[in-house]
Amino acid sequence: MAPQALRALIALLATASFSQYAFAAPTGTSTAAAPTALLGYNPDNVVKNDDADIKYTLVPGQTDSAVVGAHLDFNNVENPQPIRGSKGGTDPGPNTNEYSQLNPDRFAPPGTDHGSVDNAQWPLGLSHAKLGLDRAGWSRQQNIDNIPAATDMAGVDMRLEEGAYRELHWHKAAEWSYVLNGSVRVQAVNEKGETFVDDLNAGDVGVPHSLQGLEGGVEFLLIFDDGEFSEDNTFLASEVFTRNPKEILSKNFKVPLSAWDNIPTGELFIFPGTKAPTDISKQNIVGSAGIVPIENSYTYHLSKQGATFDAEGGSIKILDPTSFPIASMFSVAIVTVKPGALREVHWHTASDEWNYFIAGSARIGIYAAVNNAQTFDYHAGDTGYIPKQMTHYVENVGKDDLMFIEVLQADHFSDISLGQWLGLTPPQIVQDTLNLTNTTISAFKKEKQYIVSGDVVE
Ligand SMILES: *[C@@H]1O[C@H](CO)[C@@H](O)[C@H](O)[C@H]1NC(C)=O
Ligand SMILES: *[C@@H]1O[C@H](CO)[C@@H](O)[C@H](O)[C@H]1NC(C)=O
Ligand SMILES: *[C@@H]1O[C@H](CO)[C@@H](O)[C@H](O)[C@H]1NC(C)=O
Repeated sequence: MAPQALRALIALLATASFSQYAFAAPTGTSTAAAPTALLGYNPDNVVKNDDADIKYTLVPGQTDSAVVGAHLDFNNVENPQPIRGSKGGTDPGPNTNEYSQLNPDRFAPPGTDHGSVDNAQWPLGLSHAKLGLDRAGWSRQQNIDNIPAATDMAGVDMRLEEGAYRELHWHKAAEWSYVLNGSVRVQAVNEKGETFVDDLNAGDVGVPHSLQGLEGGVEFLLIFDDGEFSEDNTFLASEVFTRNPKEILSKNFKVPLSAWDNIPTGELFIFPGTKAPTDISKQNIVGSAGIVPIENSYTYHLSKQGATFDAEGGSIKILDPTSFPIASMFSVAIVTVKPGALREVHWHTASDEWNYFIAGSARIGIYAAVNNAQTFDYHAGDTGYIPKQMTHYVENVGKDDLMFIEVLQADHFSDISLGQWLGLTPPQIVQDTLNLTNTTISAFKKEKQYIVSGDVVE
């Protein structure tokens, strides 16, 4: 069709639909121009942009060459801009600046970021919470639904008020827990009929079976060795009773049918209970198999263990099955990093890494072969996930101490330090590979640093 004919047809169709609309519309005044005048090219429609002038301030570090890649602090900046050195450009909006302030390395990534890296961060504050009965507590979880790369581990953050229980339950996944706040009573029965009971404080760990909040309640993390784990998918004590015929239950327990008249009809999940007796020995039920021998203990008082490694920039506390054998495949580091300091560039060969941020703010730069790198930002209450072999650092970008947990699925804690690797490689090889000066190479350390202080040599 010739262009003029086409334009005429479009104009005709537009008029037709406009008249239909005009007849159907309620009576009222309209100042709109005839829509045909608004269609396409018409020299009367002059385009102007009166507010083209975007007002903004760049923050310290933003004008440095993009490959310097320092942390950008957008807090208290009215109109943050996605600019790094000569890269990026202004952003007129619309915007919710809180996102840029919380995630400056997503908004204005270091120039060393490249290509794509699977998402490695999830704030539990964005998880859909599951609320317990009668204000007894709540839980929220991270699994492959929110970090699809997290195939090997998942985590749950749970609160139990004083006296409240996580309903007796079991699941296929192995579990490890870390107490974040308050105190909790842990009880367990193993396959041999051996029994166990102990109380834990913030900073302690356990392999829990039955859990009850003590005075002031408790908040804890549960980490599972299965990325698909879901709190909605566990075997529940209440359901064993509602899903077995009462005739079977009566035979099984040798009690009358009426014994089951008042059992709960639905899942309890998190519910209030009778306060745990202060005297823990009152809950020490012992069968003929006796108590669980100490080497198979279900708890470990990690809060009372000293640092495995202590340095100017922070400290690291390692716990693995060497000291806590029952958690046979959970190897964990509790890491404290001072402001500006860095958990050194390293990677794990044995396992993926699951993270939880207990306090402070951090960023993690992940290098994933081939030629992909991205930087993620983390705050207290966030989870993280770093697949094995990918190099990463954890930098404290806040004003307070950073505290986080590294969890590996391994029978001992191990990592490869980039610094030590190069420090122990013949200098000639390093020189031929990286074209560094002899002075630079001689500064490389032969020992793992774990954590390095925040000074950058000018
Ligand atoms: C537990 O939480 C309370 C309330 O936020 C806080 O005052 C207390 O310091 C926390 N305890 C620990 C050990 O973190
Ligand atoms: C190594 O660096 C020097 C500058 O110090 C440069 O002149 C030289 O071209 C570089 N060599 C390679 C192979 O890039
Ligand atoms: C650097 O060290 C190598 C030995 O590793 C040596 O052969 C070379 O002369 C040194 N270069 C300088 C500039 O000192």
